Amino acid sequence: MLIISEPKEMQLLANNLRKEGKVIGFVPTMGALHQGHLRLIRKARKESDFLVVSIFVNPLQFEPGSDYNRYPRRFEEDRYKCEMEGVQAIFHPSVQNMYPEDFSTYVEVEGLSKYMEGEFRPGHFRGVATVVLKLFNIVKPHFAVFGLKDAQQYYIIKRMVRDLNLDIEIIPHETVREPDGLACSSRNEYLSEESRRQATALYKALKLGKEMIFSGERRSNKIKEEMKSFIKENAPTSKIDYVEIASTKTLEPVETVVDEILLALAVRFPEARLIDNFIINADEGYVLNEKI
Ligand code: PAJ
Repeated sequence: MLIISEPKEMQLLANNLRKEGKVIGFVPTMGALHQGHLRLIRKARKESDFLVVSIFVNPLQFEPGSDYNRYPRRFEEDRYKCEMEGVQAIFHPSVQNMYPEDFSTYVEVEGLSKYMEGEFRPGHFRGVATVVLKLFNIVKPHFAVFGLKDAQQYYIIKRMVRDLNLDIEIIPHETVREPDGLACSSRNEYLSEESRRQATALYKALKLGKEMIFSGERRSNKIKEEMKSFIKENAPTSKIDYVEIASTKTLEPVETVVDEILLALAVRFPEARLIDNFIINADEGYVLNEKI
């Protein structure tokens, strides 16, 4: 397995692979790899001749005062996991390699970035879109796999790819969960025992919302209120940033549940902020990002 830290070196490798007709697959990550990441890697592995995983904690997508400094970094462990999964190369640049001092070009995906995470984490999606476009230009993949645990991020990357005519296929992957339903996340490890116990309320609240929709409830406010009460009762030390129901086309909140909607939430525990979601097809009655 190759470990590459220089963008130029990665580009040279990608050019050679493309000349040989190899299909380059790509899974961008910030490291501290867990089961969620590993499942994305396995999916990408199946579709590619050469799989690149990037490990880069991107300072641009952390707002001031957030957890950039304490975000878990454990390259040796990640490297071992990638090796075990049959990854061909890890792209692991330094911050200086990615952002020279006079760096001044940014990607803004308007509209979709306004709501939910965009509202509570100003600048976050600008940082994500900018680094993902840079990574695409460096790794030159034919396809990249993104997790639907971060549904808004997935929709924003899809839009960027369409709007900027990037010749890269974006492949979604369902949300990977712990046995008790909590979505796998590098931030789960910040949680105290008590918060970790309470955190199962997020998944249970999503299931509650889903059941209301499948039973015919169409009023967003009613569903959101029930879910919020459930979280307040079952995760009393947490604070809710939002529980939202949005159109998957525009990510704009909807008053009435129709067609396909994103049921999303963000909750702050004393040690960490967690997000989760279901993408629900209300008419046909299934959850797109869940194994049934
Ligand atoms: P990170 O949080 O490390 O996630 C990397 C990829 O793994 C993303 O596509 C994310 O959606 C996916 N993922 C994380 N947890 C998952 C889970 N429980 N189930 C399914 N997929 C999961 O997302 C980022 O990094 C960054 O924003 C990045 C795209 C790398 C840009 O910096």
